[in-house]
Amino acid sequence: MLLRDSRLGEISRDVLDYISSRTADHRIFSADLLVDRAHLVMLREQNLISLQVFESIIQAIDRIQESELGDGEDVHEAIEAQVLSLVGPEGGRMHTGRSRNDEVATCIRIALREEMLALMNELLSLFETCITLAESHTETLIPGFTHTQHAQPTTLAHHLLAHADAFLRDFSRLEDAYSRVNLSPLGAAAFASTGFAIDRETTCRLLGFDGLVENSMDAVSSRDFLLEVLSDLAILMTGLSRLAEELILWSTQEFGYLELDSLYASTSSIMPQKKNPDTAELARAKAGSVVGALVSALAICKALPMSYNRDLQEVTPHLWRGLDWTRSTVRILDGCLLSAKFNVDALEASAGAGFSTATELADSLVRITGMPFRTAHRIVGKIAAAGSHPTMQELDSVSWEIAEIRPSEKGFTFGDLETALDPRSNVNRRAAVGGPAAAETTRMLAARRVRLAGARQSLEIKRSCVEKAQEELLNYHKK
Ligand code: ARG
Repeated sequence: MLLRDSRLGEISRDVLDYISSRTADHRIFSADLLVDRAHLVMLREQNLISLQVFESIIQAIDRIQESELGDGEDVHEAIEAQVLSLVGPEGGRMHTGRSRNDEVATCIRIALREEMLALMNELLSLFETCITLAESHTETLIPGFTHTQHAQPTTLAHHLLAHADAFLRDFSRLEDAYSRVNLSPLGAAAFASTGFAIDRETTCRLLGFDGLVENSMDAVSSRDFLLEVLSDLAILMTGLSRLAEELILWSTQEFGYLELDSLYASTSSIMPQKKNPDTAELARAKAGSVVGALVSALAICKALPMSYNRDLQEVTPHLWRGLDWTRSTVRILDGCLLSAKFNVDALEASAGAGFSTATELADSLVRITGMPFRTAHRIVGKIAAAGSHPTMQELDSVSWEIAEIRPSEKGFTFGDLETALDPRSNVNRRAAVGGPAAAETTRMLAARRVRLAGARQSLEIKRSCVEKAQEELLNYHKK
């Protein structure tokens, strides 16, 4: 094997399998070829290799396929071995002024930014699904819950917007992390830089990075960029698991608020009537797996001394797993939510259940009679304990008992009572910023549409920067 021959000699299969990252390295195979190309172009431009050697190595790189690589500790060694077998000893100039340490850190960042761009795009699609559904349900009354108990009426639009806004924050977190991911460690070599006259700015630009991870020791040894992304994924998955949980609850017989499309349901091997929300259940579960990936990665990085340590190899697969689980969950829940059939009648019938208009009754007593809120709260609390919606007489007698006030004598009419107990007027009244009144949710939705367009645009700019750089790099030697 390429790297052991002169220093260490043979290795056993068991030890090689133990130290090898080849299984996970398929995630960085094409990134590694890009890194090889950029490094070679830079070596050529700095006159560190001849045109002839440059061309023959580039030709070899053009021919390399993952399936044809031989054994090796990792994809970097396997590619170099293949270059040597195609080019001969002159192929060994490719590794001038670099190490696998800066190479792997660069590859992870390249593969990760691709995944992040794809995830951010998928996340915006889920965001759009939430706001599109919300746009057609600004008037659909639903019960709002606290402690999973009926609390106050709201609308389906207001509820969906709450999820949407959380997803938009997840997007900004990822976008922010992207600015720290898309930096080039290349040229740091093992950790101590190199005595060759390399040009780090050139490889940075050729690979579409926005800047350098400057300190060469930091460049090879830090994985906080990856921990940060995994943290963002864990937070995103936590939000997704909340949506999943609601899809599960709301599709039960007890709630009956929605029915999932059959595509996203499974049945039972014994109970033929079952339509189970398995996709949403797995989304809820995968949130746990992503949190696990984050915790594993943190635990591996904790207390690692400077600079590169092989422990770092063990971190990367957690990143890929976390990304796979998160991306699929975003896509599945997007489809699941978009195709769910909301039972508007059941939602509206349930909106006023559990005396959920009690807060508005207390608020109305305050507004009309001028009594302090706490007094009104006690009056309505006593009425609630007795069970049902009050008549005017009951309201008067309970108020007298508690505060020696008769609302009917303070201008509170039967019409006021009816209005206070009506879920729709409860919602209409709540028109302050961020509230569920239709006009306010419509305003919020319009603002979210604008933010969606802005987010899509900034994503497009990032993608085209990366694509342009890659296209130029791939065509470099054809010029
Ligand atoms: N496969 C290794 C990793 O993922 C690449 C770097 C190996 N470097 C070394 N000096 N052993 O981190």
